[in-house]
Amino acid sequence: MELFDVYSRQHIEFARAEGLKLWDTKGKEYLDFYGGHAVISIGHTNPLQVAAITKQLNSIAYYSNSVRISQQEELAKKLGTIAECDDYKLFLCNSGAEANENALKLASFHNGRTKIISFFKSFHGRTSLAVSVTDNPKIVAPINRNANVQFVELNNLDEFEAAIDESVCAVIIEGVQGVGGINIPTPEFMQGVSAVCKKYGALLIVDEVQSGYGRTGKFFAHQHANISPDLITIAKGMGNGFPVAGVLIAPHIVPQMEMLGSTFGGNQLACTAAISVLDVIEQDNLISNAAMVGDYISNAVRSIDGVKEVRSLGLMIGIELHDNCSNVKSELLNRYGILTGSSSNKNTIRILPPLTISNVEAEFFVAAFSSTMDNNQ
Ligand SMILES: Cc1ncc(COP(=O)(O)O)c(C=O)c1O
Repeated sequence: MELFDVYSRQHIEFARAEGLKLWDTKGKEYLDFYGGHAVISIGHTNPLQVAAITKQLNSIAYYSNSVRISQQEELAKKLGTIAECDDYKLFLCNSGAEANENALKLASFHNGRTKIISFFKSFHGRTSLAVSVTDNPKIVAPINRNANVQFVELNNLDEFEAAIDESVCAVIIEGVQGVGGINIPTPEFMQGVSAVCKKYGALLIVDEVQSGYGRTGKFFAHQHANISPDLITIAKGMGNGFPVAGVLIAPHIVPQMEMLGSTFGGNQLACTAAISVLDVIEQDNLISNAAMVGDYISNAVRSIDGVKEVRSLGLMIGIELHDNCSNVKSELLNRYGILTGSSSNKNTIRILPPLTISNVEAEFFVAAFSSTMDNNQ
């Protein structure tokens, strides 16, 4: 059997990784400024996580949600404390799309409504409901086209207010748009959206799948705006590569038993992986590191010739050039072994390194980027 081709792939196979570094099967070294779509939060093969997962694997890896799983309780408690949302409830699942799917379902169960407002350039995943609120017609199958979904412009409060009324079930918005090319909702816009949702009884779902877990210099990106969403979705950095995701549910939303469920969600191994991520984030002060190193990189690249605009919050950095960025990305990879991300904006490079990034690694990137830009003018 052959593989179904999903992505166009680089001709690289990684054999080993540690921190920001990776080595391919030929021994060539790389530096990960992408984290495999913002997944690697505490660095590859983090020793604390490897030890915790290994220990758990040797005790029990999996049993279903038909029994008590104390690791789930420990994870919920730690997450509530570190993310400053103690009073939320945690539903555990396996991927970002699944988290958004369940958040949208919960919203509709809660207020009985069906209309959803989403934003242009958004990405929320590829499952049925998640893809219907994603602004990319290429990945929306005819069966997923949903007349209940309306897209509006990010950071345009007037347009948003004109679109919403009492028939709207929920509004779904990324803490920072990632796949769309790092587009940041202003704090004023987030506050406005939150207030208008309350006025009309629509639930606010903030998708923190890419922007959460400390990446933007706060645990959640929406905390820069000081708002409290009704539902928050998490995945990617939550497991540092281990598939685990969740929905944080505000106290006034009371799901009934058996509305949601998952066979694999919240298993012992996944929870252990997720607990170790929180332990490392806390012990190593990774949220302030993300803010500090992120600011350094953004400020340093902003003044480089050929850079049109830098949009950034912590370690979610979009570097927009005047034209297609693919040559610059290729040179960074081939000459310096630096992995970067693309986005749906062809001119924008996405920089999403692990939050463990050091000053030396950040300086290496800036120097390599600067010299690559010199060669590409
Ligand atoms: C903001 C956001 N939401 C949801 C998803 C979907 O996550 P997953 O691929 O784990 O289903 C992604 C993936 O890129 C994302 O960036």
